[in-house]
Amino acid sequence: MYLCPLCQLPLVLNQRQYQCSNKHSFDLAKEGYVNLLPVQQKKSLDPGDNTEMMQARRAFLQAGWYQRVAEQAVAMLSAVKPQQLLDLGCGEGYYSGILQQRLSPQQLHGIDISKTAIRFAAKHYPKAHFAVASAYQLPFVAGQFDAIVRIYAPSLLSELQRVLKVGGYLLTVTPAPDHLLQIKQALYSEVKLHSSEIVELAGFQHLARQQLSFTLDRLTAEDLSHLITMVPLGWKFNQETQASFINSKPTIQCDFYFDLYTLSL
Ligand SMILES: C[S@@+](CC[C@H](N)C(=O)[O-])C[C@H]1O[C@@H](n2cnc3c(N)ncnc32)[C@H](O)[C@@H]1O
Ligand SMILES: [Zn+2]
Repeated sequence: MYLCPLCQLPLVLNQRQYQCSNKHSFDLAKEGYVNLLPVQQKKSLDPGDNTEMMQARRAFLQAGWYQRVAEQAVAMLSAVKPQQLLDLGCGEGYYSGILQQRLSPQQLHGIDISKTAIRFAAKHYPKAHFAVASAYQLPFVAGQFDAIVRIYAPSLLSELQRVLKVGGYLLTVTPAPDHLLQIKQALYSEVKLHSSEIVELAGFQHLARQQLSFTLDRLTAEDLSHLITMVPLGWKFNQETQASFINSKPTIQCDFYFDLYTLSL
């Protein structure tokens, strides 16, 4: 199921420990996830989203404000019926949980570099498999996945090519031009919009793009504060500008691109 991050040999689960034949071992945490991020690969003590960001994202997503994003991802993958599905940079598992429930793959794997997020995901979505790992070195064998979902997360092209089956699918969700426009307008006098270019990925064929745009006009002060905390853009506010932005009861424009690719190599 997993490869050893130190020597790339298969890991075998014995009792509550994954071990490779070179005797590198990784404990299965009580929540059911495994930490496959060796210290050598850590660029900071607590890489990825921190607890505060994770909790804010959790609260915002759980309130259902991005449910349409999950629905759209389900819609675009339902024809594919992936049996082996990877949620890359899955965070606290909101989308993993919905994909698992709606697409019923044989196995859904979620990986993220943030241990706090993975611990939460494993606890709340026991049917899926979660590991702390880097998107730049995925702990999976070549050709393991029928489909990969990447929602706002980094990735490395060669790793996407390696772990996906030829003919498999990659669905990326990225910000479209008007995403969170009102936050940008509150922060900058000159607003730079997100690009609308379709990113070409070597070895992949771009099959389809769908744009999902909607406005959120019933956000409470608490929802807005969660939204600001969960996006790096929000850190540009100071206490004062954040308070006046929230008090203005803004309507928030959301704008996403869903791009479906297939690995043709
Ligand atoms: C904006 S969040 C998106 C999370 C989730 N997909 C969602 O939309 O709710 C980006 C995620 O990528 C993770 N991340 C950042 N760098 C990473 C890396 N090198 N490998 C794996 N995950 C990484 C972060 O910890 C965070 O959970
Ligand atoms: Zn090993």
